[in-house]
Amino acid sequence: MDTAQRIERALTQALERAAGPECPAGLTAAVRHAVFPGGARIRPRLCLSVARACGEDQRTITDAAASSLEMLHCASLVHDDLPCFDDAAMRRGRPSVHAAFGERTAILCGDALIVYAFQTLAFGVQSTPQRLGPLLTILGASAGMPYGIVAGQAWESEANIPLGLYQRAKTGALFAAATAAGAASAGHDPEPWRRVGDLIGEAYQVADDLKDVYGIAEELGKPIGRDAVLGRPNAVAQLGFAGAVDHLKRLLGEAQASIPACPGADDLHAELAAQAARLMPRPREHAAA
Ligand code: IPE
Ligand code: IPE
Ligand code: MG
Ligand code: MG
Repeated sequence: MDTAQRIERALTQALERAAGPECPAGLTAAVRHAVFPGGARIRPRLCLSVARACGEDQRTITDAAASSLEMLHCASLVHDDLPCFDDAAMRRGRPSVHAAFGERTAILCGDALIVYAFQTLAFGVQSTPQRLGPLLTILGASAGMPYGIVAGQAWESEANIPLGLYQRAKTGALFAAATAAGAASAGHDPEPWRRVGDLIGEAYQVADDLKDVYGIAEELGKPIGRDAVLGRPNAVAQLGFAGAVDHLKRLLGEAQASIPACPGADDLHAELAAQAARLMPRPREHAAA
């Protein structure tokens, strides 16, 4: 089974456990819509890659950590698209959850996914309870406050928004959780792994900011230009095209340099290099700038 299949299977099995006639059909359908079909699944991939690099010994634990990361991510997108945040009607080339199911169900869908992420983790780690505490701490920190996705979105309500802090909280924190959880799933110390995820996440958000300015909505499956319309901090708006690209390269270089020593370090370096190449603007975007 390849990595993509492994992630889809773990998510499918987890969500099947939450479905049933007791659950309102609209909520079940909205949660499925939020999670399937997925996008890049980059966070669970990163978690699996780090677990492998650390000498993964219990796939059930890694699968649970990877699924819970993706559930938190999907929940963040459902909430982020709401009219009171980015007011985006399209996501992954389809109507966003509130556009398809209404605002009330979308709020509840995001809430349900956040809670279910933690249930999924607890369910998957039963065999080795000593790994649950570290994993819960990692996932909780990435989702909440003072420095997780919730805090990141909350910066948008402040008068002055520091770009780096904002991007690291709203996006970097979950990537830091992906690398740390990959290590913790394999029974390794997660701390040295946070920084590499933090840097990849910040880079990922800079790349997303470039796409928001120079991308094509039909290709991305979501609207472009939202950051300018909503007055959101955006790396291109603050640094210009060349400055944002330089910043992106620097972050990716630092991420590679921060990979801790581990048995599978060479493979992980190669995987990150391949991911990094995908984040760089293409010739069309250079031309448009
Ligand atoms: C979108 O994340 C939100 C950002 C943090 C930039 P992704 O680009 O990972 O979204 P999907 O899951 O692939 O759709
Ligand atoms: C989203 O950032 C980060 C989240 C925590 C959801 P963006 O608002 O830039 O993501 P997109 O462009 O809507 O995917
Ligand atoms: Mg958005
Ligand atoms: Mg964006």
